Amino acid sequence: PTIYVITPTYARLVQKAELTRLSHTFLHVPQLHWIVVEDSPSPTQLVRNFLAVCGLTYTHLHMLTPKDRKLQEGDPHWLKPRGAEQRNEGLRWLREKAPAAAADGGNALAFENAVVYFADDDNTYSLQLFEEMRYTKKVSVWPVGLVGAMKFERPVVENGKVVRFHTGWRPNRPFPIDMAGFAVSLNLVLANPDACFDGNAEMGFLESSFLQNLVTMEELEPKADMCTKVLVWHTRTEKPKMKREEALIKQGLGSDPNVEV
Ligand code: UGA
Ligand code: MN
Repeated sequence: PTIYVITPTYARLVQKAELTRLSHTFLHVPQLHWIVVEDSPSPTQLVRNFLAVCGLTYTHLHMLTPKDRKLQEGDPHWLKPRGAEQRNEGLRWLREKAPAAAADGGNALAFENAVVYFADDDNTYSLQLFEEMRYTKKVSVWPVGLVGAMKFERPVVENGKVVRFHTGWRPNRPFPIDMAGFAVSLNLVLANPDACFDGNAEMGFLESSFLQNLVTMEELEPKADMCTKVLVWHTRTEKPKMKREEALIKQGLGSDPNVEV
């Protein structure tokens, strides 16, 4: 089965570095279709050019986060959900394309039993993770490392079933799972045409806003050796300092703006 990976991304100094690192992971994964959704009013040249040479099968979309839903300079990073509108745009594309593909013999295979995964551009993904998620019936789950101010968060499995969640914060949320910790079958997405991410969700409830319309805890499929292995890490990239750059710009000696970083 094909894995459709939906990645929200936005322009910033580290964007091309993040996309480069991510693409180098995905290049090792068979049958992966990358849906890159830019948080921008139109597709950018940087991402367009990058995708054209990245070597992956991809779809390039864009969806601007409305201003009132977007973090403003100086806001703490957790104040508003990030990537919600972009993931929804990826889901919209899949729902639009799937029926046409199913009708077309050659393309039908790509959608049959396909899996959808939401991969942020800054996390770290092991290759084994993709083989774990590839055979997902409804929703599969696994641990996520370095998240929630803990070594890892994970679903707790007893007798092959998820019975609760190991998390340090509000364990009674419907699904206290980071975005990186689950994958959904495309069939389930298609069977629930209204399931999407709530861009107004309270902090920590973005994943729940989507999953609670799709499954129950009892139905979750534990992967990664019954959720005992960490195969994905919620790493976050440091914002590069530009103090010297700014000083040089004042002297008219800034780095050549024609060089793409
Ligand atoms: C955590 C989760 O890991 C995210 O999946 C979740 O969306 C987020 O919290 C949340 O609560 O909204 P965190 O590392 O804090 O993630 O978020 P980012 O990595 O900064 O953003 C998540 C994704 O959205 C990234 O792929 C990023 O490129 C994208 N993003 C971020 C945008 O498209 N626009 C933005 O303005 C900011
Ligand atoms: Mn992140």
